[in-house]
Amino acid sequence: MTKIENLPKRYGWNTPVTAPGPKGMQMLTMMKKIMAEPLPFLANARLQFGDVVQFPIPKPATYFVASPEGARDILVAKHKQVNKRTIQYTSLSLVTGEGLLTADGEVWKQRRRILQPAFHHEMIALTQNEVVAALDRLNQRWTKAVSAGDEIMDLDQEMMSLALEITGNTLFGTDLSGEALEITQATISALHGVVARAQNPLALPLRIPTPANQSMNKAVALLDSAIDRILKLRLKDRLPAGQPIRDMLDVLLAAQDANDINKEQLRDEIATFIVAGHETVASALTWAVHLLGKNMNEQEALAANSDRSLQVFNETLRLYPPAWLITRRTLEPVVVSDIEIPANSLVILSPWVTHRHESVWQDPLKFNPDRMKDGVPQVGYLPFGAGPRLCIGRDMALLEGSLILADLYRNWKITPLQSGEVPIDASVTLRPHNGLPMRVTAR
Ligand code: HEM
Repeated sequence: MTKIENLPKRYGWNTPVTAPGPKGMQMLTMMKKIMAEPLPFLANARLQFGDVVQFPIPKPATYFVASPEGARDILVAKHKQVNKRTIQYTSLSLVTGEGLLTADGEVWKQRRRILQPAFHHEMIALTQNEVVAALDRLNQRWTKAVSAGDEIMDLDQEMMSLALEITGNTLFGTDLSGEALEITQATISALHGVVARAQNPLALPLRIPTPANQSMNKAVALLDSAIDRILKLRLKDRLPAGQPIRDMLDVLLAAQDANDINKEQLRDEIATFIVAGHETVASALTWAVHLLGKNMNEQEALAANSDRSLQVFNETLRLYPPAWLITRRTLEPVVVSDIEIPANSLVILSPWVTHRHESVWQDPLKFNPDRMKDGVPQVGYLPFGAGPRLCIGRDMALLEGSLILADLYRNWKITPLQSGEVPIDASVTLRPHNGLPMRVTAR
């Protein structure tokens, strides 16, 4: 452990050193590895330096808060002392504009108030219907494939398209599903451009036509024109007064009619829901399939009792949290675990690391859905964040995830082709590096 006494008093730009952490040279030589494998880097940083780590970065001063209490403190008790003006969210806003996920302050507060009720009521019922319909189609497709001898499938791809279908249909309705596919794919490719950008400290402004900027601009333009087309189509087919809403688009258009949001904001929220709601769910499902393949006793227990599916999904979100990084900027000095984090610092939280903290989790690396049987703890578990910025789609995602897992394992046995670790790509979410080929047989 590098003691703080052995570190310089300040990094460049007069940035004070207030917490232990790696030395500048140490970090510089590891940079390539950190970019390629950020999860072990963060996990080791906690083991080596403790629950609050300061990286030797002069501007902004950069802290990693790993402890369950510290992470909760930042998101809940001290939420007014931080905002989302970080590279993660400003890059994301290149795709989502000022949507619910990236907005701050009054803009965010007003938008959340408008959209929250839909997520409590209408969207939950819609999700249930769309999940059942999409599973029906998947079961038919798999039955055909398996009876033709095609038992080996890439479960990562399967879960991505299942989640995509459900996201598209709950947002834009089945009648728009052709457009939904295009719009969702455009969003995803723009999103991956965003990550590449956030990881590249030398990224040039978007108006400079580098190849990366051109492809990012193209993806955003494609997204904009697809949203435009969807809106035009829907304007010809507005919901008659008094009818139950068909999808999220009806909810957003009603908000526009009430002058709660304007056209640009409507576009930003559509992009936000695709970004936030699709790959996250798909990633969680993929890793659940992986874990249930490695732990066949758990797979059999779930097949015999569908009521275990929420526990399995929650435990998967602990071990493989799709949102593996959450960031904030401090607006004023914030004290966490007796360490002062100065104003204007970048604070990094990692559900991946916090979910493995021995102070909350016994035998943290073990996949044990039973530990979730009485619900999830308030501290040390943050797959959906916490506090006022808690994921607005949490209940939808939990419903979607548990319905899908229950149905999949009631009908199918899904076994791995080989044992061993599956390498992880930590990008927008966590994904298996080479997909997830599995054998699917009927139960
Ligand atoms: C397993 C699936 C999901 C995971 C793991 C997840 C994770 C998260 C996390 C960690 C945050 C907080 C980010 C922060 O505090 O910086 C968040 C916020 C958000 N999520 Fe989710 N999410 C999931 C599904 C969804 C779905 C299905 C939707 C919508 C259709 C959605 C929409 C949002 C939105 C709009 C926000 C911003 C909320 C606000 O700041 O008011 N998410 N999500």
